[in-house]
Amino acid sequence: MEIRPGIHWVGVRDPDLRVFDVIIPTEFGSTYNSYLIDADEPALIDGVKLEFQDEFFAKLAEKIDLTDLKHLVVNHTEPDHSGSIKELLKRAPHLTVHGSRAAIQFLGEQVNMEFNKHIVGEGDVLDLGNRKLRFIMAPFLHWPDTMWTYLEEEEVLFTCDGFGSHFCFPEGKIFASEQEMDFTDEIVYYFDAIMGPFKPKVQEAVAKLEGLPLKMIATGHGPILDENLDQMIQLYKDLSATVKQGRKRVVVGYASAYGHTRRMAELVAEGARQKPGVDVTLIDVGNSTDDQIKEAISSFDAIVLGSPTINADAVYPIWRVIDSLSAITSRGKIAATFGNYGWSGEAAGLLEERLEKMRLAIAHPAVKARFGLTDEDEQRCRELGSNIAEAVS
Ligand SMILES: Cc1cc2nc3c(=O)[nH]c(=O)nc-3n(C[C@H](O)[C@H](O)[C@H](O)COP(=O)(O)O)c2cc1C
Ligand SMILES: [Fe+2]
Ligand SMILES: [Fe+2]
Repeated sequence: MEIRPGIHWVGVRDPDLRVFDVIIPTEFGSTYNSYLIDADEPALIDGVKLEFQDEFFAKLAEKIDLTDLKHLVVNHTEPDHSGSIKELLKRAPHLTVHGSRAAIQFLGEQVNMEFNKHIVGEGDVLDLGNRKLRFIMAPFLHWPDTMWTYLEEEEVLFTCDGFGSHFCFPEGKIFASEQEMDFTDEIVYYFDAIMGPFKPKVQEAVAKLEGLPLKMIATGHGPILDENLDQMIQLYKDLSATVKQGRKRVVVGYASAYGHTRRMAELVAEGARQKPGVDVTLIDVGNSTDDQIKEAISSFDAIVLGSPTINADAVYPIWRVIDSLSAITSRGKIAATFGNYGWSGEAAGLLEERLEKMRLAIAHPAVKARFGLTDEDEQRCRELGSNIAEAVS
């Protein structure tokens, strides 16, 4: 499916999807859009969900011998887009992956294998020979790793989750202009569920589109936007309009048997404190009274919880903190988890899942470290803190 000369949609449809990311009902299914750009050095933009990778590779095989594929751009590394990348790396030996610093790091932790990587920043250009891709950083739409990619010659912007919708278009009818049903409500709903907690970040990213010639917004979910682009951008501006508030509060709560998770918590707090205008409360919930815990979590803009894995679970004092959070007032607030472990390491993931089910916004993937912290582990903890502080600012 060619969306512009030499740009092929190689994504997949998921019409039967009814719940996304554990918490978001998706009445109209979704799609995972990936794009192959013909050029002297061909490039692929984003991947698809793991379950759909056979279909994805079959589509790619019709267009390209993967040994000729030179570039992969990862706008975002949530597994609905990155799940298929490990297999892609195996099949495309000459591939270099381009992404933000966070994207390259997250991908590394997902695939656990060596790959050729290239970290890109604001305004960097990737020269494909006869075509050029320019990168526009859009952090926290809705993870620290997110960016947009602009194909200069065709004036197409690839936005992954940005401007996306969980709306499965009918086979062969990929463009917004071809849809029988007005799916604007689905774009709004997607915004509220995914981007809502990051409105100031949306404003910053959308401001970068000022004056950029645009023929198409090629999203990662739902129909490709090929008409009324100014209105779509205005919609995102309207949806993200906020009143600026005062200082922000980040709570870092942890429990720890042997001090490793404590050390992680201290580093998370240290990272968060670097951001001006952010107050950080660090609390050892394993050694605090109910009243102290209640006081610490009485109001917050972001909560970061850490637990060691003990017998395949997070420990009780941390679960108690989650139980005492109000699902109503915590809804939509920013959250993340971390934890030390020895072999199986379930804790951080279980906590993340629970917070996600309570509809907090997971703004950073769980950070796990095994036994003693390496310099790299320490850095990841500090980055977790600074990213969370950035997300609430
Ligand atoms: C009783 C006990 C049970 C444990 N069970 C697990 C487990 O199921 N999975 C795992 O990954 N680590 C397990 N561990 C290892 C701890 O997660 C590991 O020692 C970790 O470094 C503790 O973090 P802390 O220093 O913050 O307490 C267990 C440790 C203890 C003492
Ligand atoms: Fe995402
Ligand atoms: Fe997505």
